[in-house]
Amino acid sequence: MTTKHIAVVPGDGIGKEVIAAGMEVLEAVSEISSFGMDAEYVDIGSERYLRTGELLTDDDISLLKGKDAIYFGAIGDPRVSPGILEQGILLRMRAVFDQYINLRPVTSWFPLVPLKREVPFDIHFLRENTEDFYMGANGTFGPNSGGDSAHVHVSRELYDIDIDLVAKASNGDDFAFEIGLLSRTAVTRFADYCCRYALDRGDGKVTLVDKANVITRNYGMQREIFGEKAAEYGLDLEFMFVDAMAMAMIVRPETFGTVAVPNLFGDILTDLGAQLQGGLGMGGSGNINPEGVSMFEPIHGSAPDIAGRGLANPIAAVLAAQMLLENQGFPDEGRMLHDAVRHVLDAGMTTPDLGGSLTTSQVGKAIADFVLGQK
Ligand code: NAD
Ligand code: IPM
Ligand code: MN
Repeated sequence: MTTKHIAVVPGDGIGKEVIAAGMEVLEAVSEISSFGMDAEYVDIGSERYLRTGELLTDDDISLLKGKDAIYFGAIGDPRVSPGILEQGILLRMRAVFDQYINLRPVTSWFPLVPLKREVPFDIHFLRENTEDFYMGANGTFGPNSGGDSAHVHVSRELYDIDIDLVAKASNGDDFAFEIGLLSRTAVTRFADYCCRYALDRGDGKVTLVDKANVITRNYGMQREIFGEKAAEYGLDLEFMFVDAMAMAMIVRPETFGTVAVPNLFGDILTDLGAQLQGGLGMGGSGNINPEGVSMFEPIHGSAPDIAGRGLANPIAAVLAAQMLLENQGFPDEGRMLHDAVRHVLDAGMTTPDLGGSLTTSQVGKAIADFVLGQK
């Protein structure tokens, strides 16, 4: 028995419900295998924020730093202005723990695939998770917006950046801006990870998604670095513009394997990808720091429209738990969760989003029962 210390952050809305189901499944795994789990629940999310004003505290960070992995539900609350919880908790976690890879598999879980052609696919999106338009490098200028200058400060594990902007618009208007930044160091480690990932999977090529025909500097540099890395690893490199990629994912998903995508486009394409595999309730993800603490979560949010009613599909959270197990050195146990998900889909033991009539906890229990049956 190897005991893993897991921080569990259910968060808000359906995060609480799907993590409860996912934990029942992980506990079942620990009963029948050498995976031992020491779980500590951490109260981070909108309730605490509304009570105390705290988002992610230094104490939270030092507690989480001592763990082997983090199992995260979702954050988001209609009572809090957009961006506060998202930037203050989730994006801050990804940045503080330097989880620079966001792995988001898109797998053809038949019969959930809503496409006309029944071709199997298994796309592994590797989303860069620390830079691009997600850095909070923003500001305003103009007569009613701070005058003729703006100071931008961003802080990352790799660097601190200060940008001073002197700006004056000819028409005296007010402006807001959000800068997308890429550093050579971060793109290089991302490209290196993607290439090694493709080789490990047996993919002969990496597809790089961008918009280098419009955002020429950032994605031009990214193309150059990926070109060097792909050559170094002897891989083919395919470039796809993000608009064409959105279309190709519908028309020919089976032609993609390892797909590297910058942060913002990766967010969008993986919700599309989730829908290709049955909906947001089917998308698991791992925020990975290969040398540090990684965090596993469903890709969906807190879903206030269905929260508290047992309607949330817990499979995305279970697939995130699968990735946690694989990351922690338990590939056979991870595989078991994949098989368990296949089993509940085949048996029609699903929530309403997949056409079933079970509740979140009933699906969780069905998956856990399958696992216990593997003893
Ligand atoms: P959402 O992912 O919460 O929900 C989008 C739609 O999908 C909703 O109709 C919801 O009911 C449905 N859905 C999502 N997950 C489901 C599941 N497991 N089973 C069944 N149906 C499911 O996105 P949103 O509504 O745009 O955002 C709600 C809040 O969540 C916002 O505050 C947003 O910022 C936040 N958010 C957080 C995360 C995260 O924590 N990782 C991710 C996305 C959005
Ligand atoms: C996701 C979410 C987050 C993102 C938000 C909530 C910050 O949409 O995990 O996909 O954009 O990465
Ligand atoms: Mn998203």
